[in-house]
Amino acid sequence: QPQQEQQHDQTGDRPSFGIAFDIDGVILRGRTPIGGSPQALRSLYTDDGILKIPFLFLTNGGGVPESKRASELSRLLEVDISAPQVVQGHSPFKRLLSRFENELIVAVGKGEPAEVMSEYGFKKVLSMDEYASYFDEIDPLSQYKTWTVRQITDNNSNSKPRDPHPRFDAHRSKVQAAFIVSDPVDWGRDIQVLCDILRSGGLPGKENGNQPPLFFASDDLEYQAVFPSERLGMGAFRIALESIFNRINQNPLQYTSFGKPNPFVFQNAEAVLKQLRSNIFGMMLTENVREMEGSSFKTIYMIGDNPSVDIKGAKKAGRPWFSILTRTGVFRGKENHSEFPADLVVDTVEEAVDYILRRES
Ligand code: G3P
Ligand code: MG
Repeated sequence: QPQQEQQHDQTGDRPSFGIAFDIDGVILRGRTPIGGSPQALRSLYTDDGILKIPFLFLTNGGGVPESKRASELSRLLEVDISAPQVVQGHSPFKRLLSRFENELIVAVGKGEPAEVMSEYGFKKVLSMDEYASYFDEIDPLSQYKTWTVRQITDNNSNSKPRDPHPRFDAHRSKVQAAFIVSDPVDWGRDIQVLCDILRSGGLPGKENGNQPPLFFASDDLEYQAVFPSERLGMGAFRIALESIFNRINQNPLQYTSFGKPNPFVFQNAEAVLKQLRSNIFGMMLTENVREMEGSSFKTIYMIGDNPSVDIKGAKKAGRPWFSILTRTGVFRGKENHSEFPADLVVDTVEEAVDYILRRES
């Protein structure tokens, strides 16, 4: 059994390593698998399709609930991926639930930002589209925007149904926080309305109060999508918003960014991987699973394409992280990256997984 060939720790028969995969530029470009990712992932399962190596996706992207992203990834990559294996940029927003559970919050970005926040338990969420629609003429350019909004209906969706007409008046209730959940679609409108919310203390048009808290799911300047060269990410949007806000407001913009390369993202990933390992061994062995949960991994591999995000983060997180840089995304260099050199540089994710399985056998 390949299971027994892998490196084990002192306490028993379990692999002492885990893997964190970046998505954009490593596993997918847009919605297309790259770098032999389906084959690479398949080697982490038994012939019967049961997970044998603890791994997760650690992406700064997002815009749909983790359960929905897991089904989408399972479909694209042809392996069975569970919701806990998907950690997105906005996943840590759920930790802010106790602070904003019953407060009016605005969720910004592509996909289903309000559904994401509702799924985390926030009770009074409006997407930016919904919020802006309460205020006539808040976007003076809206009449020139001829695009239509596509209603996304997915029968496989596990998202909780949301009340599309929350019973409160956006003209009276102050926005208590704004969350940039995923890459904003209509930068002009979003910057305008965010400036309105943030400058006014939470109620556009009525200047009274301090800036409500602002949270970004990540701070990626650029990322690899389908187009041959990199695309502007959430960090670029943050720079645009911040530059404008600081020109029109006396006090500079206050905000918090989550996502890689923050070390807590890597610490959280380690905790999730330990849980996954317990689940794997809970199914395969009858011995003391609880004892396994706490024990450390010897190595956790981060496979990423962005030196200043994935590799910098893994390096900052320290042991047991081991960074592997692929050439399928943001990074295309021949040699290692000079500012944030990885522990290993390979062409593709398939090569990275081959290396790991050889090293751990
Ligand atoms: O919008 C997604 C992008 O910022 C990065 O995604 O998977 O490369 O962390 P990923
Ligand atoms: Mg990436």
